[in-house]
Amino acid sequence: MNLKEKYGPWAVITGASAGIGEQFALQLAALKFNLVLVARRIERLQKLSDELSKTHGIECKVVPLDLSKEEAADELKGATSSLDVGLLINNAGMGYYGLVVNQEPRRYPTMIRLNCTTVALLAHHFAKRFVARGRGGMVIVASTAAFQGTPHMSLYGATKGFDLLLAEAMAQELKGTGVDILALCPGATATEFQGSAGGAAHTGADPARVAKDALCALGRKPVVISGFANKIQVVSERLFPRKLVVALGERVLRRLE
Ligand SMILES: NC(=O)c1ccc[n+]([C@@H]2O[C@H](COP(=O)([O-])OP(=O)(O)OC[C@H]3O[C@@H](n4cnc5c(N)ncnc54)[C@H](OP(=O)(O)O)[C@@H]3O)[C@@H](O)[C@H]2O)c1
Repeated sequence: MNLKEKYGPWAVITGASAGIGEQFALQLAALKFNLVLVARRIERLQKLSDELSKTHGIECKVVPLDLSKEEAADELKGATSSLDVGLLINNAGMGYYGLVVNQEPRRYPTMIRLNCTTVALLAHHFAKRFVARGRGGMVIVASTAAFQGTPHMSLYGATKGFDLLLAEAMAQELKGTGVDILALCPGATATEFQGSAGGAAHTGADPARVAKDALCALGRKPVVISGFANKIQVVSERLFPRKLVVALGERVLRRLE
């Protein structure tokens, strides 16, 4: 069974206007999925929707939405209720660099709602729908930051730890239901993320590669770490005391801030 037969006909992608989410849209469109494209920047979503519908002859629905709002998950549920959705790419996320003591705590609820609360509410809603229809798939985008404390990006790392543990546990809970859940853990990736987070520009993995790794792994395993060097990093971290791993991570993240 190919991906479209297994997880089609409609896929919902949060954070589809840029970066990894946009790459999921391009790759799923090429596989002939119909797409629900969700993010705040409507012009970008509309342009992508027009291009993908024209090139691949698929249906696209644009849902402009701030997913950090309390009612966001309900709005997305409403916007997708009449569509036969079989795949959710739970991808939209944000981060901030900076020491906890120097940060503006009023930003915290926004990040936690976007990276955790909305992710969990959408995971619950679509997993239930998928179980009822007997098949479905979900990618929850976590990070290699999920495996240890991330000084200079502490809250972000904590939200990604939440995403990883949620996906990993749901994958086990839903075994045998026909519903596959995957935690995608990219390392640094060349998207708008670093700039938005207030970090120094640096190179990263190709977001197309990251999306491809996830689509290859979905249904085969519960967690995928994208990129060989990142896999080695995460595996080798298990061999050392956590405090040493966090201290080494601090050196890297301080330079990126
Ligand atoms: N890039 C990395 O180094 C890296 C590494 C590990 C994990 N990740 C994770 O990968 C995921 C995608 O990030 P990316 O690297 O592709 O970053 P990106 O290029 O900044 O894209 C982020 C996407 O999320 C959307 N988004 C942000 N805030 C939103 C909000 N409040 N409501 C709705 N949509 C929102 C953005 O769209 P709008 O601005 O149009 O709303 C955009 O489409 C995130 O969960 C991130 O934590 C990234």
